[in-house]
Amino acid sequence: MASNAAVSFSFVFLLLSLSLAMAARVSTVTENYGYGGGGVLSKDVLAQQEADRVVRLPGQPPVEFKQYAGYVTVNESHGRALFYWFFEAVTKPEKKPLVLWLNGGPGCSSIGYGEAEELGPFFPQKDLQTLKLNRYSWNKAANLLFVESPVGVGFSYTNTSSDINQLGDSITAKDAYKFLVNWFKRFPQYKSHDFYISGESYAGHYVPQLAEAIFDSNKQAPKADYINLKGFMIGNALLDDETDQKGMIDYAWDHAVISDRVYEDVKAKCNFSLPNVSDDCNTALNAYFAVYRIIDMYSLYAPDCVSNSSSSRQRRPIQGVAPKMFSQFDGWHKKPAGYDPCASDYTEIYFNKPDVQAALHANVTKMGYNWTHCSDVIVNWNDAPASILPTLKKLIAGGLRIWVFSGDTDGRIPVTATRLTLQKLGLKTVQEWTPWYTFHQQVGGWTIEYEGLTFVTIRGAGHQVPTFKPREALQLLKHFLADKKLPPAPF
Ligand SMILES: *[C@@H]1O[C@H](CO)[C@@H](O)[C@H](O)[C@H]1NC(C)=O
Ligand SMILES: *[C@@H]1O[C@H](CO)[C@@H](O)[C@H](O)[C@H]1NC(C)=O
Ligand SMILES: *[C@@H]1O[C@H](CO)[C@@H](O)[C@H](O)[C@H]1NC(C)=O
Ligand SMILES: *[C@@H]1O[C@H](CO)[C@@H](O)[C@H](O)[C@H]1NC(C)=O
Ligand SMILES: *[C@@H]1O[C@H](CO)[C@@H](O)[C@H](O)[C@H]1NC(C)=O
Ligand SMILES: *[C@@H]1O[C@H](CO)[C@@H](O)[C@H](O)[C@H]1NC(C)=O
Ligand SMILES: *[C@@H]1O[C@H](CO)[C@@H](O)[C@H](O)[C@H]1NC(C)=O
Repeated sequence: MASNAAVSFSFVFLLLSLSLAMAARVSTVTENYGYGGGGVLSKDVLAQQEADRVVRLPGQPPVEFKQYAGYVTVNESHGRALFYWFFEAVTKPEKKPLVLWLNGGPGCSSIGYGEAEELGPFFPQKDLQTLKLNRYSWNKAANLLFVESPVGVGFSYTNTSSDINQLGDSITAKDAYKFLVNWFKRFPQYKSHDFYISGESYAGHYVPQLAEAIFDSNKQAPKADYINLKGFMIGNALLDDETDQKGMIDYAWDHAVISDRVYEDVKAKCNFSLPNVSDDCNTALNAYFAVYRIIDMYSLYAPDCVSNSSSSRQRRPIQGVAPKMFSQFDGWHKKPAGYDPCASDYTEIYFNKPDVQAALHANVTKMGYNWTHCSDVIVNWNDAPASILPTLKKLIAGGLRIWVFSGDTDGRIPVTATRLTLQKLGLKTVQEWTPWYTFHQQVGGWTIEYEGLTFVTIRGAGHQVPTFKPREALQLLKHFLADKKLPPAPF
């Protein structure tokens, strides 16, 4: 009997390594084990996964990997649900880590930016019909999960409309944590995988805060809820209001974007150590922001989109404590631009198509507004710390792998800001500032290794690093996941 069990066990395991879904279909075992446990998935779990399976999207090229999308409830009494889209790794998903990607805002969609314009497999095209397969999709290196967070962003929703006015960093982190716990119940085969979080921009708040929620909960959570978090990687990340703002102004002057007068005026009238903006400072900053109505703040040397489109329409600015000074400016919500500066227009049209939403199991409650890159319904942001450095210090001490990267042509959260922030963090240097190499023997950027944190610049990349330097971004991800230094010499 015992040896029989062992035989069938390894049989199932082999199938699992070949193809999860195949193993799933042949299995009749009803107990619910994780992958690492070597077990198989229960019928209920399989049925749920199958219900979330995205068979084929309109205009999608054929692919070998599996994808799933749908809702995960994060708060039952209020009816809050977050929308996710998950791509299995292109090869050997059972052996690859799991990476969650988050965009920022606050209020912007990880699917609109991350999936569709930066690092996901499918990019909507100009013909407004087809999806292009991204050669440098991050699911070449990992199982890749996107979630629209918090409620009110993209397809994520709440049935309690008053929730929208309560949003801030803390609810976002709590709901995202709850999302993960419940997502792993739906996909238990990934529970034992190494788990990493990555993101950019305002996700400089979200990612460390979610990591902290996991880190703290792991200490008390029942074993079933344990999350195998190994580290995180954040790019052009909002980390510290003082240095981020000082760095932003310095960078604009240093890159010949603003005049001496505007620069001196901002310096004279704004004190970035203070929590609030004075009227004088506000006026000075308006002159500063004016320039970014005519060039792309998020990618200094990229062309602007010149077609008439939804992306150029004015957005209602988000008011609130975060980010302390700049959320009230339209500049915060200006759409980013990639090689095709109009990409966001195609994305917006694509995700508003009813057949696309049906294929993604999205918008099942028929929301009363359109899908947008950045939320039009979130107008208040109630809480955010002025600095994430205390959280970073705690998580460095906690032994998580932490990489910070920066596309060096971004004017919004520029490399200057991040360098000032990291100076303030005051970590010991392990390896001095040194170039790293990418393909064709080119310098990809520079890197410095601190005790507990690695910083990497990506030469010539704007705010959305994977959009502008897709190959280098994938190289960066692979090295981060492998905990390997980027190449210090041409190869
Ligand atoms: C659901 O959300 C409400 C409001 O944010 C909160 O008061 C309540 O504790 C949440 N319920 C659970 C089970 O977390
Ligand atoms: C929200 O309400 C709709 C309509 O009643 C319901 O179908 C849905 O399940 C609710 N969502 C959550 C997360 O409870
Ligand atoms: C800016 O504000 C901080 C905090 O109140 C204060 O310590 C500092 O002296 C101020 N700097 C200037 C130049 O006024
Ligand atoms: C800053 O502004 C907020 C909201 O307007 C106000 O509640 C707070 O008291 C102000 N803080 C300071 C230090 O002026
Ligand atoms: C944009 O719209 C304006 C006014 O509606 C029109 O005059 C102009 O030709 C349009 N430009 C493009 C590029 O479509
Ligand atoms: C919503 O999207 C539809 C179809 O894409 C469009 O016709 C409509 O104008 C949009 N509504 C708003 C409020 O933007
Ligand atoms: C959801 O569906 C409704 C009805 O089809 C549509 O009007 C709305 O724009 C959609 N909203 C989102 C966020 O997808």
